[in-house]
Amino acid sequence: MKIINNIKDFSQWRSNVNDDVGFIPTMGALHKGHLSLIQLSVENNEFTVVSIFVNTLQFAPNEDFNTYPRTLENDLKLLDSLKVDVVFIPNEKEIYPKDFSFEISENLISKKLEGVYRPNFFPGVLTVVNKLFNIVRPKDSFFGQKDFQQLAVIKKMVRDLSMPVTIHSCKTIRDKNGLALSSRNSYLNSDEKVNASIIYKSLLEAKELIIQDKNIEPVKKMLENSLNNFGMKIDYISFASLNNLEEMSELCVCPLIISVAVWFKKVRLIDNIIVDN
Ligand code: PAJ
Repeated sequence: MKIINNIKDFSQWRSNVNDDVGFIPTMGALHKGHLSLIQLSVENNEFTVVSIFVNTLQFAPNEDFNTYPRTLENDLKLLDSLKVDVVFIPNEKEIYPKDFSFEISENLISKKLEGVYRPNFFPGVLTVVNKLFNIVRPKDSFFGQKDFQQLAVIKKMVRDLSMPVTIHSCKTIRDKNGLALSSRNSYLNSDEKVNASIIYKSLLEAKELIIQDKNIEPVKKMLENSLNNFGMKIDYISFASLNNLEEMSELCVCPLIISVAVWFKKVRLIDNIIVDN
């Protein structure tokens, strides 16, 4: 496994391989969710590139850029065991030189949900992913459904800007209690992680209820109550069309996605469930 720290060396490697390159951008602190994406690339592409870059641009000044978990040594061990070809770990100055003055933004689906609470987030994600795609030039790239809106916005960027890469949507990996794996879960102790699994349990219940009765309001109330009972502060609970993230107000129409974002013990957690029948 090659570890490459600058664009020039990466380009040199890239010019010596064919186009069957699968790419997984990450911010490190790798867990089984990341590994499942990487595994898919290793199985389906001749070459697999993983990037590790904690992207300042997607964090607001009051967010956790400084404390974001950084576990490089362990990440490299995991990546090596998966037979990744290249780990690209660029430095900040090369990604954002001093006079960097571009920003990619999307004006429709990125303005909803996460976009309301984290206005810096999608422009930051889109800018870095765009730049990484230009450097890596992948044929395929893999993103997790856990961050469904991110996946949708990236798919839209690739479609709207005719970028030559196929985006693959990969299922959410959870711990044994159902909590979606996330690098930020390391801010929680083990009891708190068990309590946080109420998010997924409530989403499963919501899915059952909405299949029986298409009325959104009572199901939203149930979700609100069960999250509040565990001391969670709700940013949003959304029932939206899976196709365009358009919010549904009274009656739901399949396929839909139920998404939640909550604050729990100083950690912001997001999760979602798809209802397609
Ligand atoms: P990061 O949070 O490190 O996630 C990297 C990729 O792993 C994303 O596609 C994310 O959706 C996926 N992922 C995270 N947890 C997962 C889980 N439990 N199951 C399945 N997939 C999971 O998302 C980012 O980094 C950044 O925004 C990035 C795209 C790298 C741009 O900076």
